[in-house]
Amino acid sequence: MSPLSTVILGTGSYAPGRILSNAELSQTVDTSDEWIRTRSGIRERRIAAPGEATSDMGVHAARRALADAGLQPADIDLLIVATITPDMPMPATACIIQQKLGVPTNAACFDLNAACTGFLYALDTACAMLGSGRYRHALVIGVEKLSTIVDWKDRTTCVLFGDGAGAVVVGKSPVPGLGLIGTKLGALGDSVDLLCIPGGGSNAPATAASIAAGSHFLKMKGKEVFKLAVRVMDEAARDILEQHHLRADQISLVIPHQANLRIIEAISAYLELPLERFFVNVDRYGNTSAASIPLALDEARRTGRIKSGDLTLLVAFGAGLTYGSALIRW
Ligand code: UT7
Repeated sequence: MSPLSTVILGTGSYAPGRILSNAELSQTVDTSDEWIRTRSGIRERRIAAPGEATSDMGVHAARRALADAGLQPADIDLLIVATITPDMPMPATACIIQQKLGVPTNAACFDLNAACTGFLYALDTACAMLGSGRYRHALVIGVEKLSTIVDWKDRTTCVLFGDGAGAVVVGKSPVPGLGLIGTKLGALGDSVDLLCIPGGGSNAPATAASIAAGSHFLKMKGKEVFKLAVRVMDEAARDILEQHHLRADQISLVIPHQANLRIIEAISAYLELPLERFFVNVDRYGNTSAASIPLALDEARRTGRIKSGDLTLLVAFGAGLTYGSALIRW
């Protein structure tokens, strides 16, 4: 095992240019700007262009993260893509991004599916693999084209999601106590049916009837997910703070999964940490699943919300129901 710290060397993000506002959405589905804003905090979301694949968005975010880190694709020997919307069921989108980006063929490349917690699972996996001493630089990408799995006729889900990408370059530093200082991951497998895509997999392969029934679209029991989300995010945050003998008020900035402003407000109240210490961009992007945290992290860095020495808490939940938290010292 390597005694070096595992640090984030660079961040990058990408959001497609097309903005879909609540007002525009309410012309095609029975909803209103007022309902969406008050129930979720979302004002608009981004939608990928026709022909713009998940891998294309991932490449944009990755290039920015590499530039921020001062590294080249040739420096990457581990590439992990967290996504539930791969370009195709196989091969891994990581391999497609490897080719588009020019990452060397001796790099390990794979996808990881932990839904909205995917980026935290991927980050922890990258850190563990770097810790083995067998890899030098990891590129971890969270990217989603959720517009392709959302049922645009289902007002209970379609108003919530959007497309986007975020990426980080992870490497080693000789400075002790920096970077990823802890993670806590878990899953509640008894809640699989609360949030899932029931059709199209090996359990229920796609048929003309399943497509007509819309079983290849995302289904969600929103109220149940909401309650569990608040509980597991609060627990994941508390557990990691306790594990590292920290108080919530020692956290400079919390970067939560951006699913619903009311969920973020509830976590803020439970942790007794003012909302100003939470990074929020759900209003502009909606829920971008695995892209949500790295997109927010990159915006937080670029807007000066994270400074050297700061302690940042990342916390997420998602289909599975997976959950996770991570502490980063900058
Ligand atoms: O990354 C994980 C992803 N998932 C989440 O984080 C989602 C967690 N859940 C939520 O964010 C919230 O539960 C929602 C935003 C999905 C829904 O908010 P809610 O306050 O739980 O509303 P509700 O589901 O109880 O619906 C209230 C009413 C219903 O009408 P009735 O039965 O009271 O007449 C819905 O039919 O609002 C209706 N409704 C809508 N009305 C206008 C549901 N969706 C819409 C809509 N526009 N888009």
